[in-house]
Amino acid sequence: MDNQKLVVVMVGLPARGKTHVARKLSRYLSWLGYRTRLFNVGSYRRARLGPGQSAEFFDPTNESANEARRAISAEALEDVLAFVGREGRVGIFDATNTTRDKRALVERRCRAAGFDVLFVELVCDDPIVIEVNVRATKTLSQDYEGVDPEQATRDFRARIEQYERVYEPLDESDGRFVKVMDLGQTVVAHRIHGYLESRIVAFLLASRPTRRVVWLSRHGESRFNSQGRIGGDSELTSAGQLYAENLSRFVAQHSDADAPPLVLTSTLRRTIQTAEPIPYPKTALRALDELNAGVCDGLTYAQIVERYPNEYTSRAEDKLRYRYPGGESYEDVIQRLESVIWEIERSVRPVLVVAHQAVNRALYAYFMDWSPEVCPHLDAPLHTVLELSPQPYGCEERRYPLGPLAPRGQPLLGGRQR
Ligand code: SIN
Repeated sequence: MDNQKLVVVMVGLPARGKTHVARKLSRYLSWLGYRTRLFNVGSYRRARLGPGQSAEFFDPTNESANEARRAISAEALEDVLAFVGREGRVGIFDATNTTRDKRALVERRCRAAGFDVLFVELVCDDPIVIEVNVRATKTLSQDYEGVDPEQATRDFRARIEQYERVYEPLDESDGRFVKVMDLGQTVVAHRIHGYLESRIVAFLLASRPTRRVVWLSRHGESRFNSQGRIGGDSELTSAGQLYAENLSRFVAQHSDADAPPLVLTSTLRRTIQTAEPIPYPKTALRALDELNAGVCDGLTYAQIVERYPNEYTSRAEDKLRYRYPGGESYEDVIQRLESVIWEIERSVRPVLVVAHQAVNRALYAYFMDWSPEVCPHLDAPLHTVLELSPQPYGCEERRYPLGPLAPRGQPLLGGRQR
């Protein structure tokens, strides 16, 4: 990983999905191991002035309000810089930043602090999309608590008009930027250099604003599972085969013939056999193979303690970074899953992933925004489908235990809704 420190500066009119994209980006970068934090200027305003500023507050000719807005924005930006200056790698400055002067000021301040700047602008002129955004998110915002939804919608439209009066879209004079237009149908990247910036662009290219569900399933019980051995490439037991039948029925019941799911498996026999009864095409990806246990592949934990006691202890001390001799760590698995995340993000159809314990923990951590440190300890039970449904500001989870060996109790971790 390079050492670049970056401030991502969001740009765009209200109700274009900036905060949604900024949160997704923050989750993605955190999952990859970059310490990332989002700073939303609207939240600073509500904390300083209380919620409920009407559209007049955003009038560009309202000098006293402008002064208050400038001060609040500057305070948020200083917090971004303080975070990036300490432990942070990426600070995301989530505000409208709609004028060239404002952006030049932000960029100068970031550069003076020694950090690179990447502008990310969201552009959308489709009135239907804007209306859906306003109704789905803004009228539920703290700004409109207790306000009649019709009145809230009217006021928010008036707020947008205030911003439109001074809005100057990004152009070549703005330095490095990515412009995401019409919900990702067109993406323009300008003067992108570094590795980190390229990853951000690749992620924004893949991201589709969609409500499709993702189902995560481990393979059915394998012969190695029943013997307490890790790794290998063994076949399913009869309980595992029963789960495969149940999974196929689950998929048939929960999917629609017009949008059949994208079915992804690893290249190992136990996931391919688990997906076998599902009547849709499957794609086997090596990136979904189980964490490679190197010299410990095929052993039970008791055998590992006996033959490699130091390895066993080192792993227990830092399960995220520990790498089996000749094998992989959880961190390695997360890095190789990046392309799978792009594949899933790109899909407008439901996605079923049939993979392995470590791999599913890593994918689950991405969708539910768990930190990399927590990832190796997440609950990923056998014979259970985890259904993850993206919402405007997070992901909702449901668990379906499907037959033999599925745990019925509450998971230790997981089940978080945002
Ligand atoms: C807000 O106060 O809600 C946003 C301020 C801005 O970024 O223009």
